[in-house]
Amino acid sequence: MNTRIIKHLNFDWKYAANFDQSYISASFDDSAFTTVNIPHTNTELPYNNFDEEVYQFESCYRKSIMVEERLKNRQAILHFEAVMTYACVYINGMLATEHKGGYTPFKVNITHYLRYDQVNHIVVLVDSRERNEIPPFGFIIDYLTYGGIYREVRLEFTKEVVVENCHIRTRNVLTEHKSLDLDLYLENFSGLGGSSELQFYLRDTSNTVIKKFSKEITLDGQPEQRLNVQQEVSGIQLWDTDNPTLYFLEINLITNGCEVDSKVIRFGFREVHFEVDGLKLNGKHITIRGLNRHQSFPYVGYAMPKSAQVKDADILKNELGVNTVRLSHYPQSDHFLNRCDELGLLVFDEIPGWQHVGEKGEWWDITCQHVEEMIKKDWNHPSVFIWGVRINESDDCDELYKETNRIAKYLDDTRPTGGVRCIENSNLLEDVYTFNDFSHQGKSHILSEPKKVTGLDAPYLVTEHNGHMYPTKRFDSQDKLVEHALRHLRVIDTAYGMKNHGGVIGWCMFDYNTHKDFGSGDRICYHGVLDMFRLPKYAAAAYASQQNDAVVMEIASNMRMGDYAGSELSNVNIFTNCDYVKLYKNDVYLDSFYPARAEYPNLPNPPIVIDDFIGNQIAKNESFSSFDSKLLKTIFIEVIHHGLDGLPILSKLKMLFLLKKNRMTIQDGIELYGKYVGGWGDKSTTYKIEGYKDDALVSSQSRGQSFNQSLSVSVDCMKLVEAETWDTTRVTVQRVDENGSVMPYAHDVLNIVTEGPIDIIGPKNIALIGGGIAFWVKTKGRSGEACIKIYSEEFGVIEKRLFVEKDSFQ
Ligand code: GAL
Repeated sequence: MNTRIIKHLNFDWKYAANFDQSYISASFDDSAFTTVNIPHTNTELPYNNFDEEVYQFESCYRKSIMVEERLKNRQAILHFEAVMTYACVYINGMLATEHKGGYTPFKVNITHYLRYDQVNHIVVLVDSRERNEIPPFGFIIDYLTYGGIYREVRLEFTKEVVVENCHIRTRNVLTEHKSLDLDLYLENFSGLGGSSELQFYLRDTSNTVIKKFSKEITLDGQPEQRLNVQQEVSGIQLWDTDNPTLYFLEINLITNGCEVDSKVIRFGFREVHFEVDGLKLNGKHITIRGLNRHQSFPYVGYAMPKSAQVKDADILKNELGVNTVRLSHYPQSDHFLNRCDELGLLVFDEIPGWQHVGEKGEWWDITCQHVEEMIKKDWNHPSVFIWGVRINESDDCDELYKETNRIAKYLDDTRPTGGVRCIENSNLLEDVYTFNDFSHQGKSHILSEPKKVTGLDAPYLVTEHNGHMYPTKRFDSQDKLVEHALRHLRVIDTAYGMKNHGGVIGWCMFDYNTHKDFGSGDRICYHGVLDMFRLPKYAAAAYASQQNDAVVMEIASNMRMGDYAGSELSNVNIFTNCDYVKLYKNDVYLDSFYPARAEYPNLPNPPIVIDDFIGNQIAKNESFSSFDSKLLKTIFIEVIHHGLDGLPILSKLKMLFLLKKNRMTIQDGIELYGKYVGGWGDKSTTYKIEGYKDDALVSSQSRGQSFNQSLSVSVDCMKLVEAETWDTTRVTVQRVDENGSVMPYAHDVLNIVTEGPIDIIGPKNIALIGGGIAFWVKTKGRSGEACIKIYSEEFGVIEKRLFVEKDSFQ
């Protein structure tokens, strides 16, 4: 028989958006409540322009469960992965526990409250107001703390002793004598003492046993017992960012010949530490190139299940090509972290908080509790390389931060600590001086010198840059979008070139809703390299182009003259990892262009800038001497940059001389300009850009007049699986032309209808924003075929069929 029997309690809760003492009673009639599934947001929200107080209220969740008589001899442990912000749990009318803090898990033993072979009532009072005694609250914060039971709930029936947690530390990983150093935390519910045995199976991901070992132990009969077990192992592959090899450790507890508990934990063998010149992963230097992530989604705030969390990690690693993510500013979903482990994406984990440090007393105690809860939740994730144990951007507060560091070190001696600050020369109590450097304002100063910031020769990492210094909407002008991308690249380039610099983590992955005190007038911080729907701005391609796993070639321009002053195309940036590009105008080859290495000497892949749309065409087509052709081209390029009026006097004279020498009038000159540069009054131009790697053509894209536009619809995942809880997928709609370019000024209105076992999250009538939009659909308790119909005035209906499967254990 299973040592643990798990009931996932995510479906069919009864919910009321208020709270009354009478709701606690087991006999309360909740039939008028709404039926909801978890993850759940306490209220569905608009896309923008809403007041943050709309989700700040008390609410009530009730669930009835039958507990069979056969479970009577077991312990019943109820687990909540996260409830925002304060939770009070009642079982059959009796208070079982309370928990303060919305980002960390908690559990309660409810055995003594249960009635067997009868219906039991779980009632959770959820207070989603900003309570001043709970971090991050007490002052202002630049993000929203959406309410509800927004991560999963489960009830585990265990035997009398459980392996509650096990911290798997891997030692000597760079030697032949790799070993496991295990700290086991046992919980003993019955006072059972005496000799027992722990059996361990180390398996790889194909389930092959690599090592079996065991240890005789003595149960001391105390409610909690910590034990240490060490074991040398061989034939191990290390976890790193390129090969994120994972292992499973199965732990069985045997007492009196019977298995009383069994637990399987996934982990990786690796070693991290920070030196003055940066992060060492398994002794190898890694320059951090990352982005910050909030855990929010449009309409539902934090309440998204596994697949949406996993997708975010996939986007970071595979679409944005970063090697690191910072969990700003709180611990995040296990699903997200699990995926980071699988992808080899490094994680900066940090406690909840934002600038404000509350009073000594309860606020500090909860902060210390958060350190412990975060570390015990996340310590077996190989991706986590540092603990952030300071309130983000708070002032020095040595007494508190000595304690948070002490707790972190006591619980985990294998990872460095950091503490994100925005002040220079603060007291370094952590291993790494982690600093938000917003000093780049588009001018020549890009990053501060580590030693100037720290006053020390200390390990150093920039944990935020850009963000509010240059908020950019996906539907801003392309000039702004390009400058936004370039500012990120300048910072990354500078960090790569600095000595004693750990790297940079940009602010941030995607736009987010925020409090009234921040953001654009609609209460969105447009700080992302993606928008809220995870649709890319040019900055996304600037990041993506720094990796070499997949070809990236993003032409950061629609190359339409009407978008340029004086209708003249000037510099076009291409964010690419190609070696060079070839430019064709109306199928005529103009020139080849190479990465801007002089401007970005340290980037893995500098952008390529097209700054000449004439090529050798004047020399080829006209009867000028080669000298005159070159001169004319130089003057034309100057006109593009300065306009005719701003043309230096010397160039004007040269032009006149050239015309005279070739017996041409000023009108002839204007016509030549129109032919090779201008386009005003011309037939439309089509540009083609080909990208080459190792002299092989790897990408070809065209920009020009669009004659044939359509709505392109893509669905992230065509099969949804309802298992422990509901499932979701994102649907992206973009108006594109025949070249696949998104039409950035399209705002088509869409009406979305679903058929079958899915619903839309958010509104059913939406409009494209800057040529694109996305929405999510969710399962609703049934299996079968589902259909999404997207209606638009111009394009009629587009249908996408998905399949919903319901896992058999439900
Ligand atoms: C930082 C802060 C972030 C975000 C960012 C905007 O000061 O830590 O949470 O507000 O500014 O650029």
